[in-house]
Amino acid sequence: MAERTERTVNYLRISITDRCNLRCVYCMGEGGVALAPPGDILSYEEVLKVAEAAVALGVDRFRITGGEPLLRKGVVDLIARLGSLPGVREVTLTSNGLLLGHMARKLREAGLARVNLSLDSLRPEVYAAITRGGTLRTALEGLVAALEAGLSPVKVNAVMLGGVNDADLVDLALLAWAYPVVVRFIELMPLGDPEARSAGNFVSGQALLARLARQGGLSPVAKVPGSGPAMYHEWMPRRPPRRLPRLPGLGPSRTGPAVIGVISPITRPFCSTCNRLRLTARGMLHACLAADGGVDLRRAIRMGAGSAELASLIAQAVAQKPPSHGMASGRPSRTGRKMSELGG
Ligand code: 5AD
Ligand code: SF4
Repeated sequence: MAERTERTVNYLRISITDRCNLRCVYCMGEGGVALAPPGDILSYEEVLKVAEAAVALGVDRFRITGGEPLLRKGVVDLIARLGSLPGVREVTLTSNGLLLGHMARKLREAGLARVNLSLDSLRPEVYAAITRGGTLRTALEGLVAALEAGLSPVKVNAVMLGGVNDADLVDLALLAWAYPVVVRFIELMPLGDPEARSAGNFVSGQALLARLARQGGLSPVAKVPGSGPAMYHEWMPRRPPRRLPRLPGLGPSRTGPAVIGVISPITRPFCSTCNRLRLTARGMLHACLAADGGVDLRRAIRMGAGSAELASLIAQAVAQKPPSHGMASGRPSRTGRKMSELGG
């Protein structure tokens, strides 16, 4: 699908709920977010209508997000139905992993290709502090279940907060070295709640790479087209680690170089290659995380819009996709929309 800046928009992130069972400090304030009344959330039938119209425009990959998407009943069935739309290449999921322990297998059977998991620390007390009460062990059990179900590659996302979890950097890199997991370090974005913006000190992707390079051998991996916003590197610890991160019930399984990704929305914006659209749980379609604008697909559907009309509204959102998000140098997003609404 061509638009102003000639980026191909073939990827739709679908948030199916604004609820979450965590309260990550960089995502929301302590009290959580104001939840939409149930009637304001798109039904799965409505989500499928949007998905079908998007497919007609060339979208062939979907990612299910939240809030925490596994909290919504029927998500396994939705994934199966999205995956069986003609022309869809892949359905993936972003989750905090807490519910994956007993859902990973069913999700895999429904056709889910792979998962991205949020995991910001391997220290239980730091994990609990960042997530405001989450249990690290449950998240790690979810990670193991994803690996065992074959949802690979499992990618772990860690938002780096200076003074909070930057001491976890090497441990998280060792997780990627010892297990078949890709770990991606993400620069803190000034999104959403004002409280969330002061979750920790900003640490740049370059600073993280410099620290990893002091601890081991680091070499860039050629960018694979369509692999998203991360810049990937291979990393080998300089000397045999004294101890390795432990996963419940799963021993270390490889000793090749770790694959480490760095996502630098602030210091190296990737807007010019951004191929994503975002559908919020309330049915707003946004072409950018941080820019104003968007189209109200819920309203259109509930007024009786058919597939052609939806497709033309989606094309309109693509045309509004700005050349860049303008968050460089820490300027907060103007919209006040939160990650739990936008689905990361
Ligand atoms: N800055 C950077 N990343 C964020 N995420 C949520 N809020 C922020 C933020 N303020 C990321 C988390 C999660 C994904 C859904 O979004 O890493 O994995
Ligand atoms: Fe929930 Fe994800 Fe936000 Fe954490 S970052 S509170 S897991 S939606």
